[in-house]
Amino acid sequence: MNYREQFDQISTFLAPLKKMWENEILCLYPNDLDCFNTEWMRQLASLNEEELWQVDCHANYSVLKESEFAKWIETIQELSIIEQSQKNKTTDLPDWAFNKVKGKKRHEILILAEVFKKIQDAKPFSHLVDIGGGVGHLARIMAHYKGIECISLDINEEFQKFGTKRMEKYPRPSGAKEVSFITHDFTEELEGDLTKKIFSKDSFSLGLHTCGPLANRHIDCAIRNETRGLLNFGCCYNRLDPKTDINLSSHAQENGLRGLNHFSFTLATRGHSSMNFEDFKHKRRVKNYRYALHLFLHDEMGIKGLTPVGDSHQRDYWASFSSYAQKKLDGKEIKYDWSSDQFDEFYSSKETQETLDKLFYANIIRWQLGRILELYILLDRVLYIQEQGKTPQLLKFFDEELSPRNIGVLFTE
Ligand SMILES: C[S@@+](CC[C@H](N)C(=O)[O-])C[C@H]1O[C@@H](n2cnc3c(N)ncnc32)[C@H](O)[C@@H]1O
Repeated sequence: MNYREQFDQISTFLAPLKKMWENEILCLYPNDLDCFNTEWMRQLASLNEEELWQVDCHANYSVLKESEFAKWIETIQELSIIEQSQKNKTTDLPDWAFNKVKGKKRHEILILAEVFKKIQDAKPFSHLVDIGGGVGHLARIMAHYKGIECISLDINEEFQKFGTKRMEKYPRPSGAKEVSFITHDFTEELEGDLTKKIFSKDSFSLGLHTCGPLANRHIDCAIRNETRGLLNFGCCYNRLDPKTDINLSSHAQENGLRGLNHFSFTLATRGHSSMNFEDFKHKRRVKNYRYALHLFLHDEMGIKGLTPVGDSHQRDYWASFSSYAQKKLDGKEIKYDWSSDQFDEFYSSKETQETLDKLFYANIIRWQLGRILELYILLDRVLYIQEQGKTPQLLKFFDEELSPRNIGVLFTE
């Protein structure tokens, strides 16, 4: 399937589901929850906690049997197919190369090392620029072990100081190339003609987990400076500005979705994170408390809109509902005249528990749209690059279990 076709099919699938992706569950309470198929909600209600967990984190849908709900999920999966990048054998490196580097990062670096080596062998580039390179683990490995000169650019000077110290501490293999750190806010131009020098026609740039709009800036910078190539992995889509950072391509502007907002981007960011059973139970507890507080505000206090209350410490969700609710209400300076017992009775009442279950099942259905919304965002970026005369690819690079944000936009000249 070509990217434009995939984008159009995803848009057509998502358009009638607008109510689901443009609203948080609580915005739909109480009158608009009917956008969630009643039969699917009943099906979820018949599952036990472990089965719900498996559906929620996309691990096992067999419990849904042959149903309309299962078919809907199958359609999402078919529309979300992304080609796997060629798997190259990764080479082992000395232990100290990865000292203090977490498993996820190690996995990503080892894979990207082979990707860049292959690109370098086919069409040599002068140096690699790592945008948002943090402490520079990737740049260090590329320079020291793959012989690729690197520039690691990041806004955070502390990260870079740590990275410089780290570099001096361990042995440098013979033939190692240089790593330079540049402390800079990438949303702004570098001084003088430094941008042009760094993003030269012979350079290749990487953005590994560039938060929100930083990914778009990266793509624009590579196109504007006609660099040799780019590989970008987005993340934190919830930081995108719905007015400026989506529907970048003319194709999406004409044919894409309208109404994507902060709630849709948050769903795209979180919708497919893998989760163990304990995490799932905690998530349900968090949702129950947050939802119950909303029910109290909405039904008992007459506060109809969504009141942002922020996250709480993990232990607050396992204390009584009354202590959670009172803390939140005091924090927002909302006056109430309920006693602790009243709050706890309200929470454990049959009526509240039934509503909380319903809201949670709705959330499970909505959650299924996370990955496909992420693809909508990424395909729009791909179409935008195509419209600039390039031939981008959208590929899966990492093992989803280890690194869920595993899809990269790649182009080489
Ligand atoms: C999610 S982290 C990714 C770090 C690293 N690339 C990785 O994958 O482990 C995003 C990085 O981008 C940096 N960053 C955020 N905004 C930036 C900006 N405007 N300019 C440059 N760097 C930025 C942060 O300091 C952080 O190191």
